[in-house]
Amino acid sequence: MNTFIVDGLAGKPSLEGTVAVEGAKNAVLPIMAAALLVEGETVLSNVPDIADVHSMSSLLEGLGAYASYGKEGSCSIRTNDVRETILNEDIAKRLRASVLLVGATLARLGSVTFPHPGGCVLGSRPIDLFLDGFKTLGCEISEHNDMYTIRAPQEGIAGGSIFFRVPSVTATETFMIAGVRAQAPITLLNCAMEPEVVALADFLVECGARIEGAGTPTIIIHPSHVEPPKNPFAIIPDRIETGSFLILGALLGKRIEITNTNPSHLGAVIESLRVMGVEVKEEGTTLVVSRPEILQPVDIRTHEYPGFPTDLQAPMSILLTQASGESSVLETVFDGRLNYVDELVRMGAHIQVWNPHKATFHGPTPLKARDIDGPDIRAGLAFLLAATVAEGQSRIGNAGLIDRGYSRIEEKLTGLGVSIKRT
Ligand code: UD1
Repeated sequence: MNTFIVDGLAGKPSLEGTVAVEGAKNAVLPIMAAALLVEGETVLSNVPDIADVHSMSSLLEGLGAYASYGKEGSCSIRTNDVRETILNEDIAKRLRASVLLVGATLARLGSVTFPHPGGCVLGSRPIDLFLDGFKTLGCEISEHNDMYTIRAPQEGIAGGSIFFRVPSVTATETFMIAGVRAQAPITLLNCAMEPEVVALADFLVECGARIEGAGTPTIIIHPSHVEPPKNPFAIIPDRIETGSFLILGALLGKRIEITNTNPSHLGAVIESLRVMGVEVKEEGTTLVVSRPEILQPVDIRTHEYPGFPTDLQAPMSILLTQASGESSVLETVFDGRLNYVDELVRMGAHIQVWNPHKATFHGPTPLKARDIDGPDIRAGLAFLLAATVAEGQSRIGNAGLIDRGYSRIEEKLTGLGVSIKRT
């Protein structure tokens, strides 16, 4: 895997310029999976050029679909010849979002075989909600050689009601997709309310589906005839990429303009930054941010949307090391997401970890350069931020993990004044 070499700015707020946000990784992946439901050609626009999108294309192609990319983020997916029901084991094991294809393949072909989906190591990532949900809908599940097979009843997936023990983004999306081709309405309770869930519903509705309540805890999906959307369907802006650049601006920005975004998806992040004394200006689809003289401490509690996103917890922690006083992080979504803290401490941060969910930060602490491998997409990005604020030259390995979620990151950071190279 590649490595990024970053010359740190030793805390000097000198970054300046404009950066455009891409389409959201977590919106495009479920929509690509949902394209499998409709026979014909689906065209998407504002598709980010990231590794996870290409992995999803490969999975779709393994099932008999065909994906191609045009100019300026357009992607076309043809699904006329989908016949295969086994997900490519190697790719599916590396990509948690592969589970989204389970609902689509099952709904379209009546059965699906897949491995336990992999993805970022954020602690245990079970799939019990998926397996329980499909049982509720009359499907049969078997396990053989570490592969699961789910079979729908002869007449198709049954209707019914599923209560999610915890609100899961991909479980909510999987059953929304499956429900479109079920035999009777499906009611989902305690759903995830993320903007990406709403974007998937918008896509399915555009294809002819009837879905009520996306963006609320209760979603009802009515069986419908679906066809490819008539016009290219635009992927919503990536709120996690936006938040990452907001945090960079709060850390080191003279003036950073973040364009092509949707500020209304970032309420919890913008509010936390305001508590820290960071002024974030909203101008339509643009956010403007710069570093205040003193960063105030803040307590962060990750939560399902509209709370503070767990995917921005690690990047935000870099900012907390630069705040004056005691800040804290309470990670409530995953149990392995403080996996980057030891390395930050080696860079000079004062952080006390109380348990796998809670850490306190004492700042401000200057950071020293270090050679580190990123453990996952978001902690990898957090290490890039840490290297940028540190003094000296750092090497951040596992660049491929960062590429899974961030397109052309070194180009974008260079455009703002960061000295970063990929080797
Ligand atoms: C999605 C996002 C990921 C983000 C996460 C939380 C995508 C492609 N990925 O991941 O970037 O970090 O939401 O916002 O959209 N759980 C179970 N059983 C299950 C499924 C989940 O217990 O069967 C638990 C998880 O362990 C976790 C919680 O539910 O504690 C929420 O996870 P979930 O929303 O499912 O995360 P993902 O959909 O995998």
